[in-house]
Amino acid sequence: MSLPHNPTPDNLAPHNPTPDNPIPGQSETTPPYGDGPSRPADASPTAAPPRRVRTLDLIKAKAEGRRWAMLTSYDQYTAALFEQAGVEALLIGDSAANNVYGHETTLPVTVDELIPLARAVASATARALIIADLPFGSYEISDEQAVATAVRFMKEAGVHAVKLEGGVGVASRIRAITNAGIPVMAHIGFTPQAEHNLGGYKVQGRGDAGDALLADARAVAEAGAFSVVMEMVPAPLAARVTAEMAIPTVGIGAGADCDAQVLVWQDMAGLRTGRAPRFVKRYADLHSVLSDAVGRYVDEVKSGEFPESERSFE
Ligand code: KIV
Repeated sequence: MSLPHNPTPDNLAPHNPTPDNPIPGQSETTPPYGDGPSRPADASPTAAPPRRVRTLDLIKAKAEGRRWAMLTSYDQYTAALFEQAGVEALLIGDSAANNVYGHETTLPVTVDELIPLARAVASATARALIIADLPFGSYEISDEQAVATAVRFMKEAGVHAVKLEGGVGVASRIRAITNAGIPVMAHIGFTPQAEHNLGGYKVQGRGDAGDALLADARAVAEAGAFSVVMEMVPAPLAARVTAEMAIPTVGIGAGADCDAQVLVWQDMAGLRTGRAPRFVKRYADLHSVLSDAVGRYVDEVKSGEFPESERSFE
């Protein structure tokens, strides 16, 4: 069977093959390496496009006592899947340093490394609010540097908000970025970019330090943050901050009274193994599922069982 000399969409294949009826051994109608953003299987071509979650929706949810969920995501498949499962906000965390690039801390990851991940997440989604972390070194120098970095994430990655770490000390950065029209999520308590300064992975705000944490929360809200992550903060203190703030609090190791929760997805889904931080709950054992699948693939390749004839071309 020979293909037409000048193939057009109409004459390319003599039998009008469909995805279910390809020409055996000759054609392949499924893009071999995936075809970009996954679309919901039930998406109707005439249905109104889904509406994005906006920062105001999250603030309204707090006012109405509705909790919401945030997860990290660094690629198109998890982004589309998490959004379809109902996650309202997706974070391209600088935890990509550890979970994508294999570093020991979040410190080495750069803006240039995060932007392509953020672009993938933003373009794979239609409903979730997409937030990108400003990595270490990309906003500390000046308000101008902070605005310039945030603008890059908005223009080059298409995210809807940025997140940065710090309280009172970064209030002017938050004000400058929000004045530029970019929503900011703050991050107080344990701030991984400052882990060396904090002396390790330590719960923040215990005892007398509670007042400083409260001051951080007030400062970021006053500076215009639309939400604030609280990491490794005693639950009673996080509850107090949550009760006082009009903006939603997002807890990670900050107890059940926060308005929202966030986890790193590889922790939550059990892809990362070993001892997990106390605040992580593993909802799946993806590590076992994947190693079992890969082990069977390797065995079948070695035995010659894969690929079967129905997966081969004539
Ligand atoms: O980088 C990150 O993933 C984070 C969250 C876990 C809060 O900052």
